[in-house]
Amino acid sequence: MARFLITSALPYINGIKHLGNLVGSQLPADLHARYMRARGHEVMFICATDEHGTPAELAAARTGEPVADYCARMHAVQEGLARGFGLSFDHFGRSSSPQNAALTQHLAARLGAAGLIEQVAEEQVYSPADGRFLPDRYITGTCPACGYENARGDQCENCTKQLDPTDLINPRSAISGATNLEVRETRHLFLRQSALRERLDAWIDRQSGWPVLTTSIAKKWLHDGDGLQDRGITRDLDWGIPAQFDGAPWNGMEGKVFYVWFDAPIEYIAATAEWAEAHGLPDADWRRWWRTDEGADDVRYIQFMGKDNVPFHTLGFPATLMGSGEPWKLVDYIKSFNYLNYDGGQFSTSQGRGVFMDQALELLPGDYWRWWLLSHAPESGDSEFTWESFQAGVNKDLADVLGNFVSRVTKFCRTRFGETVPEGAAPDPRAQELTAALQAGLTRYEAAMDAIAIRRAAAELRALWVLGNEYLQDAAPWSTIKSDPDTAAMQIRMGLNLIRLYAVLSQPFLPDAAKRLMDALDCNDWSWPEDIAAALATLPPGHAFTVPDTLFAKITDDQRADWAARFAGTRS
Ligand code: 2FM
Ligand code: ZN
Repeated sequence: MARFLITSALPYINGIKHLGNLVGSQLPADLHARYMRARGHEVMFICATDEHGTPAELAAARTGEPVADYCARMHAVQEGLARGFGLSFDHFGRSSSPQNAALTQHLAARLGAAGLIEQVAEEQVYSPADGRFLPDRYITGTCPACGYENARGDQCENCTKQLDPTDLINPRSAISGATNLEVRETRHLFLRQSALRERLDAWIDRQSGWPVLTTSIAKKWLHDGDGLQDRGITRDLDWGIPAQFDGAPWNGMEGKVFYVWFDAPIEYIAATAEWAEAHGLPDADWRRWWRTDEGADDVRYIQFMGKDNVPFHTLGFPATLMGSGEPWKLVDYIKSFNYLNYDGGQFSTSQGRGVFMDQALELLPGDYWRWWLLSHAPESGDSEFTWESFQAGVNKDLADVLGNFVSRVTKFCRTRFGETVPEGAAPDPRAQELTAALQAGLTRYEAAMDAIAIRRAAAELRALWVLGNEYLQDAAPWSTIKSDPDTAAMQIRMGLNLIRLYAVLSQPFLPDAAKRLMDALDCNDWSWPEDIAAALATLPPGHAFTVPDTLFAKITDDQRADWAARFAGTRS
């Protein structure tokens, strides 16, 4: 048994995430966490809402709520949606927690003591009309790199370039739209990332087998242009973690807070501390995941995120942890994703374009979405959601292959043998051939899951379902029973055991369906198969079961057309 620490990029608190966000972080992280648990490993799966910074303030201003109330409400909303999608976090924390404030201030103090923080007087955009500085998303304008007109002051969502508000062309206030902006001087703390450039570079070189997408983005930021820039880690905002430690403001930092991208990744650690507190456990229990001097040296730490998050996780967060001089666990593997597009364009939160998590669950249960999203994960390039593709994935894979197998086997058994596993003959050569093919397919499925090759894993899982269907078609127990009832009984005994095997193997992708199958089989043995022949003897003759309700309903052409029309525009 090994130990796996798994984190998903933290969703911003501002509003409900769309399916593109989901498939780029939380969902694949959940797949991996479920798989590793199913293989018997010890897993700590952490996520949280990312609550600070301008996105939260702007969203709260729009609803008219105090920002703390807005965050508390939206955290509960996001937690409920996560449950609807079967996301199995060990803890879903909040970056506004006291644990995160304490740890963020502690790490900043350590960085300061190591000489890695300096105070810099810098020019910031000030809006006289709004009476305040306009950091990050308080300002929008044209991206100097790609020309995208709605780039935000912190990053262009079109080309992923990290920006400074002063870089934008034709800048305007995101609060009032004011364009009469001026530049004023203000003082901020800067993290001297440039001083850590060589250490970061060498650390990235030591990582083997990272996705090209991950390393190419990291290397680009390390070596392009002037190389790694020092980064402002404080902001002129009210909402956030005060830029102070031990109650004392850094000289000149009164009234300022840490930048959201400084404290957000620290929340991965703090959320684990929140987990310990929520379970009444001592600090040692979370520290053994994060401190290499307290047990974390044998942890494998894997992060999941969209490509726009990669610079912060390959450079910013490691710089914070390395620079602290303390033995914090660094990430071992970063699985990053391209974008999922929506029907010929981009999913967009700001424009309300695409399908959002709440809307998806109003149409269909989580498993339908999980299957399509994971089997189309944007791993090697961007991928696209279309309603045709979604309909085909649900109908062809889930209903026709897996669902059909379950229904044929259980219904035939009920009619001919009753609702108990029949005894019948010993496996014949055809059944042994099936067993061998399943064993080989299982090896391929495990290899894909171990490598976090998600699309490939989905295809291998589907291939295992297909083997069962082909066997059933070929063995044809409905004919065999006329001449050789003992063999037909054996075929159905195999079929019922195959359903259990499918439940166990499919559980990481389809947790609800897997649970329904196991309930119908009245079985609670979720053990991962080592040997397929043994696994196919789990349900003994005489074991009672019930025929489950239809596992997956097909999406009709009318439904598809209706949904495509309903989600063609944008939502406000
Ligand atoms: O891009 C985003 O959605 C950020 N909220 C991700 C933060 S990940 C981590 F560092 F907290
Ligand atoms: Zn751009």
